[in-house]
Amino acid sequence: MAKKTIAVVGATGAQGGGLVRAILGDPSDEYAVRALTRDAHSEKAKALAALGAEIVAANVDDAASLGRAFQGAHGAFCVTFFWDHFSPEKEQAQARAMAQAAKDAGVKHAIWSTLEDTRLRVPLSDSRMPTLMGQYKVPHFDAKGESNRFFTELGVPATLLNTSFYWDNLIHFGMGPKKGPDGTLAFTLPMGDKKLPGIAAEDIGRCAYGIFKRYAELVGKTVGIAGEHLTGAQMAAELARALGQPVAYNAVPPEVYRGFGFPGAEDLGNMFQYKAEFETEYCGARDLAFSRSLNPKLQTFAQWLAANKDRIPLG
Ligand SMILES: NC(=O)c1ccc[n+]([C@@H]2O[C@H](COP(=O)([O-])OP(=O)(O)OC[C@H]3O[C@@H](n4cnc5c(N)ncnc54)[C@H](OP(=O)(O)O)[C@@H]3O)[C@@H](O)[C@H]2O)c1
Repeated sequence: MAKKTIAVVGATGAQGGGLVRAILGDPSDEYAVRALTRDAHSEKAKALAALGAEIVAANVDDAASLGRAFQGAHGAFCVTFFWDHFSPEKEQAQARAMAQAAKDAGVKHAIWSTLEDTRLRVPLSDSRMPTLMGQYKVPHFDAKGESNRFFTELGVPATLLNTSFYWDNLIHFGMGPKKGPDGTLAFTLPMGDKKLPGIAAEDIGRCAYGIFKRYAELVGKTVGIAGEHLTGAQMAAELARALGQPVAYNAVPPEVYRGFGFPGAEDLGNMFQYKAEFETEYCGARDLAFSRSLNPKLQTFAQWLAANKDRIPLG
């Protein structure tokens, strides 16, 4: 039987890369990978080719290239890149282009990597957190949630996948513990005693592969994934164990976090406040047993730390 091809947007990145490696690492050989990249000659693209992926040049800003890349594919993994440009409108345009390309190519199953539209629970008139960019509470969430409709309205057979906070942000996003004036490490999170669903970025792609394999059951559904739901205090305790030194939990209020001044601080301050204030709903939408059923290799925070602790910059 011919292999089913999965076209993967963001194949050289975190989510898409995890999916590419999951498919190529599956001994069942039922699926083939088409890795989309803007630069087919980059080192990352060559590394994926060496693993057995078909490499196709495509840019989500270029509808024609996207159309060619999705042609003949059974499945399409669709993800956007908010932190490359900080533009919710650009993110929506890219989501719309991917939904249209999936529709036009007749893919049997798309996965849209999305997040909640927080305005459904915190309307713009709600002053508990500031409105950002004129029409958003959490721009990088709201733009994705609002884009869900591009897939549903076009009738794309899709699974809407609500992802979780990457633990890898401790390495790449400056969110790791920092040394205070007394030299003690502190892990800052504006979530009080509420739980933050987190996941190893690599596991998002592995879960996505599990969704593709359960096509009949999960097409047309909205699902959520996480590796663990942990409070800031629990994360600090795990960090202390892994690093072999004390790590305090620094639970700042969201308004303090919003004022940290780094690009995206307000967006992230609102995001953490939303996750804290809607802890039950937000964690409830990311069931751990379901996530593990998609991906039996799903890592806990402790397992992720054991493999990655030396990569966390301790500023
Ligand atoms: N950080 C978190 O905790 C978190 C949690 C949940 C969701 N998210 C969301 O995850 C998304 C990013 O996904 P990611 O972390 O997998 O991204 P990533 O690791 O930054 O990788 C993105 C890849 O996509 C490709 N790319 C960028 N712009 C492109 C374009 N215009 N057309 C085609 N390909 C393009 C790049 O590959 P080439 O250079 O090879 O083209 C890049 O390697 C964001 O929207 C973010 O909001 C993040």
